[in-house]
Amino acid sequence: MRNVWKMLLLSGCLSAAVAAWAQDDQAPGQANTVKGGGTRAELAKQPPTLQNIYGRQHLLLDGRWNYITDPYETGFYNYRRQAFDQTGNGTGGFFDDRKQKDKDELIEYSFDGSPTLAIPGDWNSQNAKLENYEGTLWMRQQFNSAPKEGKRYFLYFGAVNYEAHVYLNGKKLGSHKGGFTPFQFEVTGRLLNGQNSVVVKADNTRHQDDIPTVNTDWWNYGGITRDVLLAETPDTYIADYQVQLAKGDMGRIEGYVQMTGAQRAQDVTISIAELGVKTVVRTNAEGRAAISIALPKNKVRYWSPEDPKLYNVAIAGATDKLNDRIGLRTIETRGHDILLNGKSIFLRGISLHDENPLIPGRLRGEGDMRMMLQWAKEMNCNYVRLAHYPHSEEMIKLADEMGILVWAEVPVYWTISWEKPEVYANASQQLTDLVVRDKNRASVIIWSIGNETPVSGPRNVFMGKLADTVRTLDKTRLVGAALEVHRSGSVITVEDPLADKIDLASFNQYAGWYWTNNREMNNYSFKVDYNKPVIVTEFGADALGGFHADSDTRWSEEYQDQLYKNTFKMLEAIPGLRGLTPWVLADFRSPRRPHPVYQDYWNRKGLISETGKKKQAFYTLKSYYDQKQQQYK
Ligand code: GCU
Repeated sequence: MRNVWKMLLLSGCLSAAVAAWAQDDQAPGQANTVKGGGTRAELAKQPPTLQNIYGRQHLLLDGRWNYITDPYETGFYNYRRQAFDQTGNGTGGFFDDRKQKDKDELIEYSFDGSPTLAIPGDWNSQNAKLENYEGTLWMRQQFNSAPKEGKRYFLYFGAVNYEAHVYLNGKKLGSHKGGFTPFQFEVTGRLLNGQNSVVVKADNTRHQDDIPTVNTDWWNYGGITRDVLLAETPDTYIADYQVQLAKGDMGRIEGYVQMTGAQRAQDVTISIAELGVKTVVRTNAEGRAAISIALPKNKVRYWSPEDPKLYNVAIAGATDKLNDRIGLRTIETRGHDILLNGKSIFLRGISLHDENPLIPGRLRGEGDMRMMLQWAKEMNCNYVRLAHYPHSEEMIKLADEMGILVWAEVPVYWTISWEKPEVYANASQQLTDLVVRDKNRASVIIWSIGNETPVSGPRNVFMGKLADTVRTLDKTRLVGAALEVHRSGSVITVEDPLADKIDLASFNQYAGWYWTNNREMNNYSFKVDYNKPVIVTEFGADALGGFHADSDTRWSEEYQDQLYKNTFKMLEAIPGLRGLTPWVLADFRSPRRPHPVYQDYWNRKGLISETGKKKQAFYTLKSYYDQKQQQYK
């Protein structure tokens, strides 16, 4: 999966040949997510987040990082609460990574000799003392480098939850907010010939005005939860590109290429050797060029769950080249139908969090991700809802490879501060970063702008703008959200002003669990008056794995199983039903679930328990999907 560049991680120290980069002016195009910690000029110089970072020469800085727990942010502020990294406020910042040289020197911290964390990895799952920790943790990695002339270097983080301040050799690179999307800093000219020290201040404290807010039904895993890479590019490089089938046209590829650097106006060749197609475009003064490639008739294997064909796409300019594996498919709706490559499909899905229940903790690498997606495939799923926030780039690439369609989502979840412009800017930036990162992934068919957000004027404006934003970023995919429903008498009505802004009638409902029960739930019916595909994005019941009783006994596997059978009956009565993502693949940790016997701070709606045990409903969902697969052959 990663072409790590001849690197060895030796006990926290990396020996690597890495080169120095020349700064250049910013490329137009996607705004970078990084708020530069330094001057505005430095901020202006941040180019867009690198597309396909794993396809580049890179050094993985993953491994054992030393860390210091800092609940009072002693390493960031002096005793007058002034930030050390602003000029004139002293030298006590932990980011200096100071080492005691003389016996009479006073330094009240040391990364050397401090404990270590496995990175990528949340801190909660790696030290019992940190299981509930919310606050600042400092993490440090050391590595050797030998920067090369004419090369540029970028320090790239897959994700840090929630706020990160990043330093290289004691100098601030910048900061970033948002726990699930990538960000980078250009470090050309800042790498030392010899040993370097990268220090990250990560703070997972929750705030009402963040995205998400203080209130979520998942564990607030903190830290560097995804890969950290040091990538090398030529001085003028391919910063971004989109290569996808044109919307509704299976005979043409459409997109763009974006060069950055002094020689950004140049000829760029885009080719797919296996299809015998090639085009040469000339990027303009801003480094950008549109791409349009006609495809040979009756030769393309279109990407689908049944045949997840990925083509090697070669992008080669005068100064840089890059390869990517891209699937070609179209996705659209027509009335109640969802059409994949022009054929009506049913989304046999399941929802899942970015959490390995066997740790428990954030998914730590390809093995964890493959386990989760394999479990989904065992139930004959062709689709997953990656709730409620962007999952890792590797997870999406695995879905491309395994042939699993994806609902991708930003954590605009429940009670957001709708009326604050900075909150909207944060949500919009996280959505932009998700779309920029995954726009070339065939598996992603739906961008979801939120989950169960309570209807109000300000919420409708906020969500409407998000829907418009995502459509300007990507015209090729569908837009979704978990809409609101309300109940009157025995009718559950899906009715939400947001429905007019999205392509799906997608909603969560918990008949039989949060209201009514197994005996009475089939007295209810749904009213979904939208001429759009209906996707039920959540339903389910908690079951303590291994607890058996009759199907009226809450928390038993039998109750959960019966609820699934009852729910299928209710949903089959909806004419436009075209997909399901029951809640949820596996039990997951939640601070909102304290029942000492049945929950113990776990949400038990999983079809798989925290020990990897498949509950009865796992098999019931599988047999339902087997039937669905026959129905949509
Ligand atoms: C909600 C929410 C989920 C939550 C689930 C539950 O609909 O979207 O994040 O975990 O219901 O209550 O289990």
